[in-house]
Amino acid sequence: MLGLQLILAGFQALSTLLVSNTDAGLAFYDPTKNGGFMLDNAGGGGGEPLNVIISGLSSPAVLTDAGILHYAQAIGFSFECLGFHLGAPQSANLGDGNGWVNQTIELRYDFGDDDVGTCLESLVGGNHFRVFRQNGTEANSGALFLAVSQEEDVWDGHTIIPDGYNVGRDLLVAAAVGHTSHDGVKYSTVAQNMTGLLAPGSTGLVNQGIATDGVTVLLTVTIL
Ligand SMILES: *[C@@H]1O[C@H](CO)[C@@H](O)[C@H](O)[C@H]1NC(C)=O
Ligand SMILES: *[C@@H]1O[C@H](CO)[C@@H](O)[C@H](O)[C@H]1NC(C)=O
Ligand SMILES: *[C@@H]1O[C@H](CO)[C@@H](O)[C@H](O)[C@H]1NC(C)=O
Repeated sequence: MLGLQLILAGFQALSTLLVSNTDAGLAFYDPTKNGGFMLDNAGGGGGEPLNVIISGLSSPAVLTDAGILHYAQAIGFSFECLGFHLGAPQSANLGDGNGWVNQTIELRYDFGDDDVGTCLESLVGGNHFRVFRQNGTEANSGALFLAVSQEEDVWDGHTIIPDGYNVGRDLLVAAAVGHTSHDGVKYSTVAQNMTGLLAPGSTGLVNQGIATDGVTVLLTVTIL
């Protein structure tokens, strides 16, 4: 009997090891507490705000590359239009010991068609976000930090619209909150506003003309 219990305990320890390769029980670490920044590096001496965080307490499958892509599709985003990538990758330092790391992926709002929708978006403007993963050994929350913004159309130089950081964030959050689904996977998403991570205003932003209200939204995404 004791033998069986030991085997069971050993099995549980092993499965814990296999399942939770991130720090348990944490939504995210504040990057600024360990040399990181709540702005990414957009080149040109400034950055864009990391204005949405997908909590490390979300269902683990959501936090993988394939998982965030699938989730993004459930809330109306898709792959970037193939062959029509306009922006250079940006990098972020999330205070996790990895230093500055390029974005994992960039997703654009899909105008209702997975194949050509994002191409249309690249032409007419719209919402997009870049994804950065907090997974260095010094702050391994597994959380995804998103730089979300709303752009003007390509004919206007693909720049962020006035108030484009707040607008882009609010549109993404509005599309995400509650129950969504894609390809048979059902999601429940809860949002929480946080202040104090990023100062309101435009200090350090790549485009000094576009201020943010300083609100960062934490999304916890659960697969139902
Ligand atoms: C990030 O992307 C840029 C542009 O593609 C590339 O030059 C740079 O080497 C990349 N940095 C890292 C750390 O991968
Ligand atoms: C951390 O995330 C980066 C970017 O998504 C990925 O390339 C890397 O393999 C991850 N590291 C670990 C240890 O999972
Ligand atoms: C969160 O902040 C945004 C932007 O300031 C605001 O529009 C929204 O009402 C807030 N939501 C909650 C639940 O406080």
